[in-house]
Amino acid sequence: MLFSQRKIRIFIIAVLAVCTASSAFTGCGKLVSEVSDTPSVPGTIDNTDNTLISENTTQFHDATDGLTEQGSDSNSSVNSSSNDPNAITGISLSMTEITLSKGQTKMPIVTMSPQSSAEKGEIWKSSDENVAVVDGIGNITAVGAGSCIVTVISEYTPEISADVSVTVTESPSETVSSSQSGNNLTYINGILVANKTYGLPADYNPGLDSETKIKFDELSAAAAKEGLNIYLSSGFRSYEYQKKIYSNYSSIYGSETADTFSARPGHSEHQTGLAIDVNTIDDSFAGTPEAIWLAEHAHEFGFIIRYPADKVAITGYKYEPWHIRYLGVETATAVYNSGLCLEEYLCIDSKYKE
Ligand code: DAL
Ligand code: ZN
Repeated sequence: MLFSQRKIRIFIIAVLAVCTASSAFTGCGKLVSEVSDTPSVPGTIDNTDNTLISENTTQFHDATDGLTEQGSDSNSSVNSSSNDPNAITGISLSMTEITLSKGQTKMPIVTMSPQSSAEKGEIWKSSDENVAVVDGIGNITAVGAGSCIVTVISEYTPEISADVSVTVTESPSETVSSSQSGNNLTYINGILVANKTYGLPADYNPGLDSETKIKFDELSAAAAKEGLNIYLSSGFRSYEYQKKIYSNYSSIYGSETADTFSARPGHSEHQTGLAIDVNTIDDSFAGTPEAIWLAEHAHEFGFIIRYPADKVAITGYKYEPWHIRYLGVETATAVYNSGLCLEEYLCIDSKYKE
């Protein structure tokens, strides 16, 4: 049966891109060692030489509150020929392509028009269930390596559909690149990782990443509009500086306890230049209006709360509501929506080899 589809302008709310949802990874199959009760360490204050206070600039991403034109793309379809007010005339997805590793799940957001239609039922289909399966609400789960097309069809107006192209890789793609010393940096699915498992070379000294600083200033400015003061307390920390911090804590609390809240040199995310500690770097920050706002909005600026309270056994660190990690808006939003910590999201662990 031939479907007639007119290629006309369709309107996509730009905010949709920001709202891209991504749900849980399942079945990484990693065993996670238990971290014993975290002691109430009085203040993990680790101010660095980099104590720049955010300048509260008002740089925001282009607010594309206008309309986006999509011509003949395969990600959406439009049909304006029906007089039925409930007939679906357009459908679009928030992503046209997804790359997943086996076991990973993502859910594109569907928009159907007209918004007033009472018939927004969705039917989801995968062109190859050996590659990816999809459930009734659009959770796409990677099954096996390969490519396929996942299609969402309007239940009420089945000639209206949209596609997302899915590529499944065997496992999280780990790439290793060399620093100046020839030692390794590890990228998992394009994300530079520094945790207890993956270290950084001692001479890796990038300073605070410029995009991270710009987005942090945006975050700080947005918080200021709400009457909140979120400022940078600790940004980039060199290997040498982290060594001093960790040695200091180890000598006071012993290395086992220090390991629960301070990274060993070469294992701190601060050395990547992509992590920032905000405000008061101790437990008193938890529950403040700033901490609550940060947890709810950091992803909108590309950051995640890196060491959540309920992931201590996985990240290997006690809850740090002040420590944010820059991932870019899309990935940070996906991690936020997944409810996972970065280790779970990337299917990796965080354990020293010892
Ligand atoms: N406090 C965090 C884990 C660090 O030392 O990098
Ligand atoms: Zn930190």
